[in-house]
Amino acid sequence: MAKKIVCVVGTRPEAIKMAPVILALKKESWIEVRVLATAQHRHMLDQVLAAFAVEPDVDLDIMRPNQALTTLTARLLLDLDDVLQAEKPDVVLAQGDTTTVMTVALACFYHRISFGHVEAGLRTGDINNPFPEEMNRTVAGRLSRWHFAPTQSSRYNLLREGVSGADIYVTGNTVIDALMTVAKRDLDIGIDLDSSKRLILVTAHRRENFGEPFRQVCRAIRALADAYPDIEILYPVHPNPNVTEMAHALLADHPRIRLCAPLDYLPFVAAMKRAYLILSDSGGVQEEAPALGKPVLVLRRETERPEAVTEGVVKLVGPDYDAIMMESMRLLDDPAYYASMARGVSPYGDGHASERIVAILQKDLTD
Ligand code: UD1
Ligand code: UDP
Repeated sequence: MAKKIVCVVGTRPEAIKMAPVILALKKESWIEVRVLATAQHRHMLDQVLAAFAVEPDVDLDIMRPNQALTTLTARLLLDLDDVLQAEKPDVVLAQGDTTTVMTVALACFYHRISFGHVEAGLRTGDINNPFPEEMNRTVAGRLSRWHFAPTQSSRYNLLREGVSGADIYVTGNTVIDALMTVAKRDLDIGIDLDSSKRLILVTAHRRENFGEPFRQVCRAIRALADAYPDIEILYPVHPNPNVTEMAHALLADHPRIRLCAPLDYLPFVAAMKRAYLILSDSGGVQEEAPALGKPVLVLRRETERPEAVTEGVVKLVGPDYDAIMMESMRLLDDPAYYASMARGVSPYGDGHASERIVAILQKDLTD
């Protein structure tokens, strides 16, 4: 009898990173695949699922405007309880470190269902950075039967926590699978940009940066636009109200800062390809940009993705006005320095992570 695997997606990055796994699983005859969308994100999730032609079988429609973490967690657990009861899967898979993933892992534990963690073992070692993701992924890791670690360093993190080496598989990150399926296409950003100007692409959404840290990020973005007439800044603003309000208040009126709604995945990849430099606190962007040969200044104090920093193609600047200005100016002014950071390297994957995950599951579930 076919094994039943439920693949869970809640937010935009989970959909991007799970889509290649879902599509690879759907090719297999020994599995019945079901897609569960918690819809912790609504529009941002829907656009990614549509881009990859993935249709949810169950949709919990959990998003509410500016929902508190406790409310989100409680509502997810209650709804997941019902779904797992009804679906009775053999295996559940989820990716990353969102509240969706943490609650799914916990609900599986209570229901005695085997849980596989995609993108396992990322750690900063500080439960407040990123908040609440470091705790979410630590909890998910403690409850996983399969740990699909993207890199050797994520494998070591898990070994240090006492996870058996036999349960850890270094697969690469599925984000590179997704990127490789689209990056070679002729993609359109869909926004009229000035082709004579260098493009700086910005994204920001981390909860630990809300308030004063994010104000410093916005001040630096504005100061850069003032200082360099030959740059244009494109900033697709995350819809979390804590971000939207400040970004619009501090940046909307500048003639060379283009604020827009979150871009769909394909236009966003087009924007990364067109960018001269990326300023971001995103996890996924730290993985994608090096593969596209684009320098990233990370607007965070810590990263759980040290590989690209070690390679010298990503730099941590923090949500710090002076550091953002200094490093951006160096990249804008010094072509040799820029070239050293614009090397195309892909420490996070080779585009075949999903195939490896499917092969591991097949071996364990059908032998
Ligand atoms: C969430 C994840 C974070 C992940 C990020 C990716 C948690 C706690 N946070 O952060 O780990 O890096 O997604 O983007 O799991 N909203 C919309 N439309 C959308 C999506 C969000 O309006 O399509 C607004 C809503 O007001 C929502 C708020 O953003 O309540 C926050 O969404 P939430 O999922 O709680 O947190 P994010 O900041 O998006
Ligand atoms: N992304 C997108 N549109 C945007 C900004 C980002 O499609 O306007 C994609 C990006 O390519 C990456 C993912 O969203 O794959 C990252 O999501 P996000 O930064 O929201 O979350 P994180 O990776 O930090 O969890």
